[in-house]
Amino acid sequence: ADPGSTSSEGSSGGDAISVGFSQVGAESGWRAANTKSIQDTLTKDAGFDLKFSDAQQKQENQIQAIRSYIAQGVQYIAFSPVVETGWDAVLQEAKAANIPVILTDRAVDTADTSLYVTFIGSDFVEEGKRVGQWVSDNLGTEPINVVELQGTTGSAPAIDRKQGFEDATKDNANIKIIASQTGDFTRDGGKKVMEGFLQANPDIDVVYAHNDDMGLGAIEAIEAAGKKPGVDIKIVTIDGVKDGMTALADGKINYIVECNPLLGPDLAKIIKTLHDGGTVEPRIVTQDGAFDQEQAKAALPDRQY
Ligand code: AHR
Repeated sequence: ADPGSTSSEGSSGGDAISVGFSQVGAESGWRAANTKSIQDTLTKDAGFDLKFSDAQQKQENQIQAIRSYIAQGVQYIAFSPVVETGWDAVLQEAKAANIPVILTDRAVDTADTSLYVTFIGSDFVEEGKRVGQWVSDNLGTEPINVVELQGTTGSAPAIDRKQGFEDATKDNANIKIIASQTGDFTRDGGKKVMEGFLQANPDIDVVYAHNDDMGLGAIEAIEAAGKKPGVDIKIVTIDGVKDGMTALADGKINYIVECNPLLGPDLAKIIKTLHDGGTVEPRIVTQDGAFDQEQAKAALPDRQY
């Protein structure tokens, strides 16, 4: 699809609340679930006129989409910023047009917090810490070489998940991160980077992937190299999408910290509250679980995404 194009849910007439939403892209299973949650919730029947655009993981496409929402005079703008920095100018334009901005999923790095009303999403540092703590407790009882598959360079989850993992493991002298590279949160990216890691390092014990999709790509690379994922090389990831949870239940992934993509209902609630003249907290943290193999088996039958 044309990255600048928008699709509109429902009519723009009546009392529907118009919302422009700029999505990061379609890079992962998590993102697909997040998009579905937003589109399924901000419907015409629920009182919204949703204009949705996919930025294909490019900041310039998001800026273009936001400018187009401003030009169309939407009542609210929501977006999940592909990277953290470089938003001040376009957010100032939204502010000048009196359009409230809601950040979903990912944060922006700005000194001016008046540029958005609220940021709803997970605590990514905490996610990285929880993975690091599990690795330290369960695998770091002996010396281990860890390779890290980072998310999109400059994105909040890549920066924070790296930081959280390092914070939780820095006092364990057994844990050595021997390589770290971006796989851009995609399955393909994870596979390619893992192939390179395997060629350069004969002695990898653990893969820390910043999301399930890159972990799933790493599984393919490990199997192609004749090794057993989850056994010869342990894998820990973040998200908890169905494919990731299935690999965990099958013993190919060893531990997953959840990142909840179902932000649609909370986003709808925030907009309705603002629309009714109410106020919302500047930071709303969503709650995440964590799963080992048995917990994944138990959770899978009811998993929505
Ligand atoms: O911002 C959330 C992250 O983005 C998810 O963990 C990842 O799968 C997605 O691409």
